[in-house]
Amino acid sequence: MSHSNPNETQATRFAANEKRLINCSQVDVNQLMPLKYNWAWEHYQNGCANHWMPTEVPMTKDIETWRSDRMSDAERRVIMRNLGFFSTAESLVGNNLVLAIFKHVTNAECRQYLLRQAFEEAVHSHTFLYVVDSLGLNEGEVFNMYHEVPSIARKDAFETELTAEVLDPHFTTSTEEGAQTFLKNLIGYYLIMEGVFFYTGFVMMLSFHRRNLMTGIGEQFQYILRDETIHLNFGIDLINGIKAENPQLWTESFQHAMIDRVKQAVELELEYASDCLPTGILGLNHDLFRDYVQHIADRRLERIGLPMQYGSSNPFPWMSETMDLAKEKNFFETRVTEYQSAGSLSWD
Ligand SMILES: [Fe+2]
Ligand SMILES: [Fe+2]
Repeated sequence: MSHSNPNETQATRFAANEKRLINCSQVDVNQLMPLKYNWAWEHYQNGCANHWMPTEVPMTKDIETWRSDRMSDAERRVIMRNLGFFSTAESLVGNNLVLAIFKHVTNAECRQYLLRQAFEEAVHSHTFLYVVDSLGLNEGEVFNMYHEVPSIARKDAFETELTAEVLDPHFTTSTEEGAQTFLKNLIGYYLIMEGVFFYTGFVMMLSFHRRNLMTGIGEQFQYILRDETIHLNFGIDLINGIKAENPQLWTESFQHAMIDRVKQAVELELEYASDCLPTGILGLNHDLFRDYVQHIADRRLERIGLPMQYGSSNPFPWMSETMDLAKEKNFFETRVTEYQSAGSLSWD
């Protein structure tokens, strides 16, 4: 259609069936209605219903415990290593979201979710700052672990190369290769970073909480786990949605490459777990972590339609209970606000 007068807007109204997850307009307004991807809007609403701030969680008991002799050196190492990993991993996820993913996800309802998720990643970064500050930890040590501790550096390098690929000035999702690189980024961050690399840390930190140690940090990790579960679920819907709209991207060789990456990630995660916890403490040890990481890797693969690789059973069934926050008696006991129970969310 040609416009004789450039000041006159001849554009027709937007129809939901014109919406696409990738390769639609990058710079249009975020026109939410009419909705096409209801799942994205639902994840956004679930995220908003779970709003929390780290400073709402009192740290007095944690500070007391940390200063006492109730914590062994091995237990302190677990906490320090996990603070070191999570404090910087959260910012890598945030950077990738805003710098790499947002531009190329060309759909308003998904972008609405991404904006919410970006804020939640900021809340998570804030949490680690708050914890380090409350406990009076050496911030130089915690915040430099991402390049000083090899088991953390290797996990982070596995992720940052994915961000760099999309940030290349010649990157585009309009070619098949480019769109596959983008899918690889989504799988690398949503499925692997937030779906695998976070999980031995969750088990370790929540194991303290189960023993009534460091319960403030434990409570914060429960909130983070709840948020991350939605991030993972959104990412899986996005990946499956892009696959459905662009089936030509999901080639045999691409599927094999993604399975290989998940298997590499499992090895990196096991190295990390052994480094945090070289000897068995808190009822945890290397064998249990191997089964657990393999178990969750299988679950993640299945959810994007790839075959499971390990067949290991879940040695920590209590993790699913912990995720069912409705069962937590003391959850937000200091708050008057009623938060949505986890009942309507899908965990795993
Ligand atoms: Fe996060
Ligand atoms: Fe996240």
